[in-house]
Amino acid sequence: MEEKQHVAVFGASGHTGRFVVAELRERGYVPLLLGRDPAKLRAEPGSQARRASADDPASLDRALDGAAAVINCAGPFAATAAPVIEAALRAGIPYLDVAAELEANVDTFAHFAERARAADTLVVPAMAFYGGLGDLLVTTAMGDWTAADEAHIAYGLSSWHPTAGTLASGVVSDRRRGGRRVRFTGGRLEYHDDARPTLEWPFPAPLGPQNVLGEFTMADAVTVPSHLAIPEVCTYMTVKAAADLSAPNAQAPAAVDERGRSAQTFVVDVLVRSGGVERRIAATGQDIYAITAPLVVEAVDRVLTGRTSATGVASAGAAFDAPDFLRALSAHLSLDFLDAPLDTHSGHRRGGGGDAARSGDDESAHLPPFAAGLLLRPDARPTARPGTRPGAALPGGHVPRHRPGHAGLR
Ligand SMILES: NC(=O)c1ccc[n+]([C@@H]2O[C@H](COP(=O)([O-])OP(=O)(O)OC[C@H]3O[C@@H](n4cnc5c(N)ncnc54)[C@H](OP(=O)(O)O)[C@@H]3O)[C@@H](O)[C@H]2O)c1
Repeated sequence: MEEKQHVAVFGASGHTGRFVVAELRERGYVPLLLGRDPAKLRAEPGSQARRASADDPASLDRALDGAAAVINCAGPFAATAAPVIEAALRAGIPYLDVAAELEANVDTFAHFAERARAADTLVVPAMAFYGGLGDLLVTTAMGDWTAADEAHIAYGLSSWHPTAGTLASGVVSDRRRGGRRVRFTGGRLEYHDDARPTLEWPFPAPLGPQNVLGEFTMADAVTVPSHLAIPEVCTYMTVKAAADLSAPNAQAPAAVDERGRSAQTFVVDVLVRSGGVERRIAATGQDIYAITAPLVVEAVDRVLTGRTSATGVASAGAAFDAPDFLRALSAHLSLDFLDAPLDTHSGHRRGGGGDAARSGDDESAHLPPFAAGLLLRPDARPTARPGTRPGAALPGGHVPRHRPGHAGLR
């Protein structure tokens, strides 16, 4: 009988780590529960808990003994990614993490690409909802394109009850940016102090048009351009979810089903443009923390079963066959290819379309014309209050048609 492989999970005591441990068990792996506080590690029969600390390399080496791969779920990753990657390189095993901290993702590419390649091993940063799913969707939408002018990733979250780890990571990122904001434009990450634009994004039905914050820059701004020639990568977040995240009394996610998922739903609506031609795909599911587990465990499974030839540091879209990967997640994600183009020039409910908006509104100065056409007039902007549905009071917009059965992804 084939022996089950052991996969180490650093940060196994956390909200995301627990989803990952459960998913590994479900997929036939033996999880090794790693963490700095053994009292918090709940090892069930058949799994082992091992103390390991990011600032104690010997403890990491002992904890990784016998592991076929390691998944790092311990954030803030500014403190954990480098030491755990170093330990994975010493052990000669693949490393994957769920880091949504842009700067930590950039560091992983910058510091470990050559060493991981030389060691003939694979490091996959941001193999999670943020950074991983968006990258897989953009890569799938690109199809046979090798380059595009713009990629837009709109996050339609019904709410966002953040974990302590998410909030701590936000504080670390904010500190590293000196309180500034970041966007990916002109082929590079740019730090700035400009106001964040508010737009109306035409999510597909049943969500429909929602007010979103533009330049809500997530890990996709690192993962997508790491392997695709796209100079503008723009990400958007529903105003409601952004307000939940920054609320002073932000609530942690609460389980509503037997898998431990919260009631949060998401739509990730991705559009790529090249020479005026648009391709679009959307993924729908439940709970951004829970979905991270099938994403990262599917990735581990593909690495351990030889379904990637990548070495070095590679994002999800670079390491894996993106459409095939998404198809494998059909139990967790619904995918829709959507007809483009969107109606960005109707003008009656927006701040004017395209070039008019660019010249008339400072907020649009750094937005590609497509996004500038979605800008809301200042008097149409929502006052984001938890419990309201931003955009509900605004006239409905164009809802793209669903193209059934496209590309055999169902
Ligand atoms: N990219 C994405 O879409 C995505 C999805 C899910 C999660 N994440 C990220 O993953 C991280 C964890 O999230 P979570 O929801 O699991 O948060 P959480 O429930 O607060 O858990 C945080 C985990 O990290 C561990 N940890 C934190 N700092 C550590 C350090 N210096 N050394 C060792 N362990 C440390 C904690 O261990 P202790 O219990 O010992 O403190 C705990 O196990 C966050 O950064 C979050 O943003 C990203």
